Amino acid sequence: WERPDGRPFRQRLLVVANRLPVSAVRRGEESWSLEMSGGGLVTALLGVKEFEARWIGWAGVNVPDEAGQRALTKALAEKKCIPVFLDEDIVHQYYNGYCNNILWPLFHYIGLPQEDRLATTRSFQSQFAAYKKANQMFADVVNQHYEEGDVVWCHDYHLMFLPKCLKDYNSQMKVGWFLHTPFPSSEIHRMLPSRSELLHAVLAADLVGFHTYDYARHFVSACTRILGLEGTPEGVEDQGRLTRVAAFPIGIDSDRFIRALELPQIQEHIRELKERFAGRKVMLGVDRLDMIKGIPQKILAFEKFLEENPTWRDKVVLVQIAVPTRTDVPEYQKLTSQVHEIVGRINGRFGTLSAVPIHHLLYLISVACDHLFPVLSLSISTSVYSRTSNTKFSVQDRSLDFHGLCALYAVTDIALVTSLRDGMNLVSYEFVACQDSKKGVLILSEFAGAAQSLGAGAILVNPWNITEVAASIGQALNMSAEEREKRHRHNFVHVTNHTAQEWAETFVSELNDTVVEAQLRIRQ
Ligand code: ADP
Ligand code: G6P
Repeated sequence: WERPDGRPFRQRLLVVANRLPVSAVRRGEESWSLEMSGGGLVTALLGVKEFEARWIGWAGVNVPDEAGQRALTKALAEKKCIPVFLDEDIVHQYYNGYCNNILWPLFHYIGLPQEDRLATTRSFQSQFAAYKKANQMFADVVNQHYEEGDVVWCHDYHLMFLPKCLKDYNSQMKVGWFLHTPFPSSEIHRMLPSRSELLHAVLAADLVGFHTYDYARHFVSACTRILGLEGTPEGVEDQGRLTRVAAFPIGIDSDRFIRALELPQIQEHIRELKERFAGRKVMLGVDRLDMIKGIPQKILAFEKFLEENPTWRDKVVLVQIAVPTRTDVPEYQKLTSQVHEIVGRINGRFGTLSAVPIHHLLYLISVACDHLFPVLSLSISTSVYSRTSNTKFSVQDRSLDFHGLCALYAVTDIALVTSLRDGMNLVSYEFVACQDSKKGVLILSEFAGAAQSLGAGAILVNPWNITEVAASIGQALNMSAEEREKRHRHNFVHVTNHTAQEWAETFVSELNDTVVEAQLRIRQ
């Protein structure tokens, strides 16, 4: 594909996601510093290199003044990011409220919050109104920056309304939407008061993508059962217009992890960690402090294992990296104290003067990325401040950068990923990528999307069954080297062959094809 002057033409990709890959922190009236944002969506999209990409999203901060907005827009432009400015009230109602208190728990089978179940519809309605308003604000920014030929790729549950807003502007725009969480069974989705409006809005896209075939199937069922539309093997049809629906399992930039492990500073770090944990097997959990990650269940399973296996007590350590997240949402605040309490109790019960069984570390890490956003070199966040609870979480003197994370993955004997539900779970992929010399064991929840791709190599568990998870720890610790090698090989081949880059290329090329096919159909 070439420009008239013969230079190769790289299609412009407008990535629209609630969160930009960087979050801004105000340092002065017109001065900003940018810090890496967390979560799998950001990690995956940073692995996407082959496009002329612009990222449109919220910088995680309220900027009421024009001077501040101008300065931030300029700082972000250097990173190829374009901000959407949301005020505090919208953030509260749209992000904390509708997105993270309603859609997120519902899509992860936790259900709707109690007050909404009891039909205090006022708060539900105002949150939904804010959600639509916020989506419209994202659409306005996309529309300002859109050029003919661009592909617009909308991401995640925050922006289900966006495809409709964009097509209302310009029906010729190529619009894709991808969900990074599970899409639940239609019986769960139908609980949502705004169920139909949201489905119709998503169907305005040309292509709708999910991590797994099951999520895609649930979405099509919701459209057929709730909207009465026709589901076809290709997608969903509404009055002759087809919205393509398909599964596009995400991956990671595995080379980045594999290459990093060869760096002398990481090798040094690995040596230090090996020394620190000498004589003990290392188990690792890396999760945002989110109720869907099953952190309390994981720790209770570890306690059960220690209880039943006294000989292992001083020979195994669980390192649990927990990343504070969405700290203004009450459920998340409760979880933080719950986890602290359980860890304290277990360490009190099994700890000795020289060692404790659980290292529970609240971390913010910075992840250097050097391709999609070439000038991105970021400082480490030092604290998380919660507006509503007035709490400052204690992350101040700890930091774990990308190298530290790779080193931890590499020295781990057993990774414990026990999400109660998870769209995919990239931590399990990153662990596998870093294990080619150690060949450690992955214990993986059957409710994570990753179970469908890494299931044959991992020990699959039901995270709700603490006895089963405790037994799987024993199985992993006693597994023969031969079996570990075989299981690891299976997963390593998958992780290195199904990359974030390939995921994005497949989605975008499918989107281009879908639009061409639709045009041909209309002409016929
Ligand atoms: P989720 O998207 O729900 O957080 P995933 O496991 O899919 O779950 O993705 C988490 C991603 O966040 C991984 O790529 C992991 O390396 C990364 N990560 C872990 N800790 C941090 C952190 N403190 N800051 C930023 N990213 C982090
Ligand atoms: C998940 C969601 C992402 C989100 C991330 C971090 O991965 O799918 O959309 O960005 O969590 O959550 P946050 O609320 O901090 O953006």
